[in-house]
Amino acid sequence: MSTPDPAPRKSNGGRYLFLLILGLALGVIATVMVLRALDARKDHFPAALMEVQGWHMGQLKGAMEQNRCSASDVMPHLQALRAMSNDLEPAFPDLRDDERFKSAAAAMRGAVDKAITAPPLSCESLAGTMKAIGDTCKGCHRDFKN
Ligand code: HEC
Repeated sequence: MSTPDPAPRKSNGGRYLFLLILGLALGVIATVMVLRALDARKDHFPAALMEVQGWHMGQLKGAMEQNRCSASDVMPHLQALRAMSNDLEPAFPDLRDDERFKSAAAAMRGAVDKAITAPPLSCESLAGTMKAIGDTCKGCHRDFKN
């Protein structure tokens, strides 16, 4: 009479894999929660201001591409950019006392003022206007945007 084989030992592999996956999933959830909490505390105003400025520049570019460069196509965007350029210093309180930042902000206001005083009357002149304004964006970004 032979003794029956003991029941084959169940491998724990499946259980460990499950715990590993559970751990990873909890880690991901915790990370998302922490990032959300950090994001909620962040000041969204500066990035939002820049996004909207970028949007208006995009609208002007689109107008140019569609060959719609009349004053009524262009002016609302120039005026919006002009109004928003007043908010550059309040949006970046840490930079507002920096001389280079102040002059970069003033340069943008100057370029947009010039465009509003002598509005572009053709798509060619709008291209020049956009280049002049865009150069002031780049001027500030070169020094202050990572
Ligand atoms: C006087 C300085 C200054 C001027 C002028 C300026 N910017 Fe910016 N911009 C910044 C800084 C600083 C950042 C980086 C913001 C940050 O990371 O919080 C930035 C970031 C951006 C971003 C990225 C936004 C993001 O999600 O972080 C866009 C888009 C942008 N600018 C568009 C423009 C456009 C278009 C113009 C011109 C019409 C312009 N900016 C003019 C300072 C300026």
